[in-house]
Amino acid sequence: MSEYQSIALVSGATRGIGRAIAAGLAQQGVKVLLGARNLEQGKKVAEALSTENISIEAVELDTTNQATIDRLVEQIGREYGRLDILINNAGISLDFYPELSVREKLSKTLETNVVGTAALTEAVIPLLKRSQHGRIVNVSSVLSSFNYRNQKDWIYYDVVMPTYQASKAAVNALTLSYAKQLADQNIKVNAICPGLTATDATDHYGERTPEQAAKIAIKFALLDDDGPTGTFHNDAGSIQW
Ligand SMILES: NC(=O)c1ccc[n+]([C@@H]2O[C@H](COP(=O)([O-])OP(=O)(O)OC[C@H]3O[C@@H](n4cnc5c(N)ncnc54)[C@H](OP(=O)(O)O)[C@@H]3O)[C@@H](O)[C@H]2O)c1
Repeated sequence: MSEYQSIALVSGATRGIGRAIAAGLAQQGVKVLLGARNLEQGKKVAEALSTENISIEAVELDTTNQATIDRLVEQIGREYGRLDILINNAGISLDFYPELSVREKLSKTLETNVVGTAALTEAVIPLLKRSQHGRIVNVSSVLSSFNYRNQKDWIYYDVVMPTYQASKAAVNALTLSYAKQLADQNIKVNAICPGLTATDATDHYGERTPEQAAKIAIKFALLDDDGPTGTFHNDAGSIQW
């Protein structure tokens, strides 16, 4: 391992794709802070991973609760003095909850997926600025691509998830804004789509595993200094916004 061990924070890492990103980064030698709304649950996940020789530290993080963000930023500053990688993975999707009104669905989804992402990003920027190679990876979805949504032969053309798609389109907009804002600090900001993956969020639909889904996020977390910023990618390559 090189002398410079990168430090990463992964939001929403107790389950699914976030857990796999956290484990995968740790296996690459990164010091990983596993963000968990419920710290006890996070510690259980870290303990389970330690049996696979994966060393991870659970930290409390609810992206809709500013106090947990502020406490965590203070803790990372005190213990490590910097952050190298932020993975904005925490996300929800409420379109298929008919008991909720559109107002409830949209406000809750935007609060987690967009406001939470922006608030966590803003809070850790001072720590990322102290890194030699700051990286932000926003976990978005190809379902939000305006370009693809206009193509009738696109595989997901018929998918209608208004609140989720609006939220991830906003995540993409944040990606471009922060990429521009942080370009002169060697902080790269990219959006990725992990692909349709069997997790709790999809009722475990399909064949794609969280480990496969995590690969594209890990790739963009570990980008070289000459890598891109302000882009949107999946396994197959560049995604049009
Ligand atoms: N699965 C797919 O097919 C797919 C496709 C494209 C994009 N994505 C995106 O990938 C990301 C992960 O999805 P997933 O399928 O792994 O979902 P998941 O299995 O439902 O896991 C979601 C994770 O986010 C956490 N979380 C939810 N709200 C949070 C909050 N306010 N603060 C902090 N953590 C919070 C959950 O924590 P708790 O355990 O505490 O609930 C959990 O760890 C999401 O952004 C999703 O939109 C998923």
